[in-house]
Amino acid sequence: MNQSRENWGSRMGFIMAAAGSAVGLGNIWRFPYMAGANGGSAFILIYLVFVFIIGLSVMIAEFAVGRRTSLAAVGAYKHYSKRWTFAGVLGVVSAFFIMGFYPVVGGWALAYVFKSLTGLLSNAGAIGDVFGGFITNPIEPLAWMGVFLLMNVVIVAKGIAGGIEKAGKVLMPTLFVLLILIAVRSVTLPGAGAGLAFLFQPDFSEVTGQTFLAALGQAFFSLSLGMGCMITYGSYLSKEEKLPNNALIVTALDTGVALLAGIAIFPALFAFGMEPAAGPGLVFVVVPSIFAQMGGIGTLFAAIFFVALTVAALTSSVSLMEVVAAYLIDQKQMERKKAVYSTGFIMVITGILSSLSLGIMSGFTILGVGVFDFFDILTDKIFLAIGGMLLAIFVGWVVKKEDLEDELTNGGTLTFGLFNIWYNVVKYVIPVAVAVVAVLGIMDIAQ
Ligand code: PFF
Repeated sequence: MNQSRENWGSRMGFIMAAAGSAVGLGNIWRFPYMAGANGGSAFILIYLVFVFIIGLSVMIAEFAVGRRTSLAAVGAYKHYSKRWTFAGVLGVVSAFFIMGFYPVVGGWALAYVFKSLTGLLSNAGAIGDVFGGFITNPIEPLAWMGVFLLMNVVIVAKGIAGGIEKAGKVLMPTLFVLLILIAVRSVTLPGAGAGLAFLFQPDFSEVTGQTFLAALGQAFFSLSLGMGCMITYGSYLSKEEKLPNNALIVTALDTGVALLAGIAIFPALFAFGMEPAAGPGLVFVVVPSIFAQMGGIGTLFAAIFFVALTVAALTSSVSLMEVVAAYLIDQKQMERKKAVYSTGFIMVITGILSSLSLGIMSGFTILGVGVFDFFDILTDKIFLAIGGMLLAIFVGWVVKKEDLEDELTNGGTLTFGLFNIWYNVVKYVIPVAVAVVAVLGIMDIAQ
């Protein structure tokens, strides 16, 4: 094994960094609007089942492969079988594509910290127009995206323990506290009960094949799975750590934050009589509107909310950038700084195209959608699910069972035959389940 490899400085540091990767725009920006658009509670229930059966197992599998090989995604696959290199490369491509739109939204979040403080909320009726005008502007969002990407480059260039871990340790707890504050404010509004009912009383009448695919894609996206991110983070993990326990903690934290974001948004949304199916603008339009109606204190809450969103986005995007950088470092023998700077440079270009596709470049489409949507839909609906399925097949059928047992148990045994349960879920259940959900979902979309 590779003795000189960097390691996480501490257990807490690893958990915070891995949870930092998982908890991001996926939880606070995407989860609420996906739940809103897919009927609320039924979507959430399906999502939870996918998270704890498929997601948790895949996360353990990614950690195991990463730590076993001490290599990032591509190297880890290659280590076992050259024929599987493509699966690792698909992961790097996914990371790169997600970074095609993620920094754009990260930039919006950053901009909204300042917009909230400087008067966005003073005219509640104009908030929707402000958002529409802002994201279609050819210059302003580009500048914020640039600042956001620069923060990523600075953190990732510093390396694992020095950069990503330090940032995660400070920023993640801040995020929890901020969200709890907002959730408490939201559920104590008069009329908040309808929002809680929307979130927690299952109504299966609107469930279709697409709902399942959306929930599966959301589960992979939110847990940072299916593209080698957790393989890469696992590769820096010390041999003493218990992989299943760490995976369970990260999954629980990620799910907790998504639900907390739902509880922060929907009760207030219903209390003010707004539309749950507001789409990607939900956070940026509805949340400031909600806060605007609270008067002076609302300005402060809104700013706090967008700090939390920026923080969450940043600790995730550094992990995406790390996947691409680690590939260049491990496979192309590039020096870290050089790998990060060149990755950052290309991401500025994809980010610009993506941001402009919402405004002046909206006429330019790839397969019928703009650049932003192309990156988003391709990764969320297709690449991550395929990546997760490939990983499960790889771990179930290519990696030696003894190696896996050794990694999962740290050379001992797991109680209640848990190892065998996990192994069979990964080997048989996940490949079949993902294939069925993908086929049904795509057939449903094609109709
Ligand atoms: N999990 C992140 C989020 O929920 O925003 C996004 C993400 C990060 C996806 C890292 C994939 C990944 F590898």
